[in-house]
Order: sequence, then structure tokens, then C-alpha cells
Amino acid sequence: MSHKESIKKIINKKNKSKIVCLTSYSKNIAQIIDDHADIILVGDSLGTVLYNYNTTRKVDLKMIIEHSKSVRMGVKKSLLVIDLPYNTYRNKSEALKNSKKVIKETKCDAIKIEGGIRVKDIVSHLVKNKIPVLGHIGVTPQTVKGKFKSKGKTEIEKKKLIKDAKALEDSGAFGIVLECVYSDISKKITNLIKIPTIGIGASVNCDGQVLVTDDILGLTDAKIKFIKKYTNIKKVINSAVSKFKKEVKSKKYPTKKYSY
Ligand code: KIV
Repeated sequence: MSHKESIKKIINKKNKSKIVCLTSYSKNIAQIIDDHADIILVGDSLGTVLYNYNTTRKVDLKMIIEHSKSVRMGVKKSLLVIDLPYNTYRNKSEALKNSKKVIKETKCDAIKIEGGIRVKDIVSHLVKNKIPVLGHIGVTPQTVKGKFKSKGKTEIEKKKLIKDAKALEDSGAFGIVLECVYSDISKKITNLIKIPTIGIGASVNCDGQVLVTDDILGLTDAKIKFIKKYTNIKKVINSAVSKFKKEVKSKKYPTKKYSY
């Protein structure tokens, strides 16, 4: 399926079937998720999740490209979307140059950038140059100062979110991530625009949901209201590793079966 057809398929899910999106930073996780997800995102959350950075701003192009190359090997059917890191899309030409580099080196299907009205000309420019763009508004970690605070409580914030969403739709984005947005405003935006909204902490009113895979697996210790841990993978790893240790110490491993 071509990029264009895959993106059309995602847009057509609006009002029909919820969109499932998860992050991945490596091949091994991507190939498991691929059977279930519509979109796999190599998010710049990899900086905070894997590298312990205190901000996603420290992620650079080289880092996201290397992780994305690994993820690409595990993705057969999902739409592969990659975050453009902070300071890699400050103007139209920089955004286009870096999007082309990311797409060329990783063979991804689309890129994601943060911002609404502020980035509308950049989004239009990318779309005109055949780069599919997923928008991201609400809490935008690349520009957040201090603590993350959910958006859409005050009238001013509500109006801004609506304007941002409309601007992204008008600029040709194929979808918008809504991060930490109050339910009523998520509903309003989702009903207002024709492209799908994908929520993270933005209620069931969105057309789809995205979460960080490491969070839902219980690999991280993140305690954020919208995170649901679906398993405790740390326990599974602990048990396997401790069994290995015991068998090594007691010389139960390797038996003849595992030796040449
Ligand atoms: O960086 C990321 O992983 C993201 C998602 C959580 C939406 O932007």
C-alpha cells in the first residue's frame, strides 16, 4: 500500500473505528505492536523514556533517525510516523530539508510536528511538497516550560485550541494529536474537523488514542493520570533474569542441550 493509501485509510476511520497508536523506539517492540496498531510513532519521548533526559528538547535528528531505522525493520503494516525533534523545523526550508532526510533514511510514512497556528505555514509547505504531517497540540512537550498542565480549561485556552486545530486542518495535516486536553474541548474539536484526532490524556471523545508503550507495559515508573499500565513487564523480566542467575550459579545452565 502506498503512503497516500495508508493515510487515506487512517482518515477514513473517523466516525467508524477508533485509531490505535503506540510508540516504539526499537524493532523488537515494533514487530509486536505492528499486529495491533494503526500507527506506530517514534516519538521524541524516547529522550525522557530511554535516555533519562529531563526534556524531549535534547533529542536530535541523528538519534531519532537511528531509532527509527530499527523500528522500520519491525513495521510491516502500520503507518510509521516520526517526530521531528526540537529545533529541526524552525522555518519552512529547515523543516522540508529535515523531513526529507528523515523519510529518505528511515522510509517512514509521515512526520509529526508540535504546534498549531505557529507552524501552519510549515505544515502547508511540507504537505505541498508531499510530506504527510501529523499535528500535535495541547501540551506540546518541546515547548513546555515547567510542569505539564492540561489545556482547555479557560475560555482563552479553548478558543486557542480550536484555532490551532482548524489551522492544522486547513494546512493539510492528516490528523492531530491532542495531548492533555479537557474532554469537552476534545469533543468539540473532534466534531469540528474532518481529520482524525488522536488523544493522549484527552478523553474517549477523540477519534483514536496514543500512549507510550513503555508506560502501558509497566517498564517506566511514570505516574500520570492518563497512563494505564496493562501489565507489569518488569516482573516478567525479573523472574526470567533471576532464574537465569540461579541456573548459572548452580551450573544447571547450560546443559548438553545448550552446548556444542
Ligand atoms: O513523543 C511522543 O511519544 C509523543 C506521543 C506521546 C504523542 O509525542
